[in-house]
Amino acid sequence: MKLAIIMGSPKGRGSISAHLIEEMTAAIGDEGEVFVFNALRPEQFDKVLSCDRLVFVFPLYYDSLPSHVISYLEQLDAFIKEYPPEKKPSVYAVCNLGFYEGYQTKWALGRIQCWAEAVGFPWKVGLGVGAGPFTIHLPPEARKKTDEGKKHFLQLLLSDTAGDNIYTEPDIPKEMFVEIANAQWTPQLEANGLTVDDVMNPHPRQN
Ligand SMILES: Cc1cc2nc3c(=O)[nH]c(=O)nc-3n(C[C@H](O)[C@H](O)[C@H](O)COP(=O)(O)O)c2cc1C
Repeated sequence: MKLAIIMGSPKGRGSISAHLIEEMTAAIGDEGEVFVFNALRPEQFDKVLSCDRLVFVFPLYYDSLPSHVISYLEQLDAFIKEYPPEKKPSVYAVCNLGFYEGYQTKWALGRIQCWAEAVGFPWKVGLGVGAGPFTIHLPPEARKKTDEGKKHFLQLLLSDTAGDNIYTEPDIPKEMFVEIANAQWTPQLEANGLTVDDVMNPHPRQN
């Protein structure tokens, strides 16, 4: 079984999507042959379409898809129309986001589903990973829901089974998540010469 994983984060390093892809590839092990493509380079479409499963892994941008992922989907769509593939790979998606609730990825995952349906490929399931950058630093007991979600997604992927989208959050209260996040981004603002007030109540620029 061949899997094409399409990396949808533009980051060169420190990407949570890259981290999720590494984890997924390790978990697939001998059960499949993984080929990783980058949405920043929309090429090798014939190789992508020779795979049995397509997995789009991307960050949530403004409750939607990064624009280069949209462009990738449009170009792949055009390629499929020009060179209809012999087989129809199943489509999966994994979206991580900065905010707490994985459910916020519902609409972004839905866009990948719409794309799959428009090109005539079977849509299977999506995974929305809440608090993505935060989760990877948590001890195992605080990421049980996240790990369970990833495990369930992998089971569906390996058995090529459709399911309801899976949404995960860290196993800590949201209030604690917000406090920790504030403790991180406030010093970052100050290091860049800004205050919380500059961000929360931006004043019009004086020329
Ligand atoms: C341009 C931009 C828009 C973003 N929009 C959202 C958003 O709407 N909701 C959210 O929770 N996080 C948002 N984020 C945060 C990213 O989803 C989050 O940092 C994610 O972990 C990045 O994944 P990556 O490291 O794989 O690129 C945004 C980040 C950027 C750079």
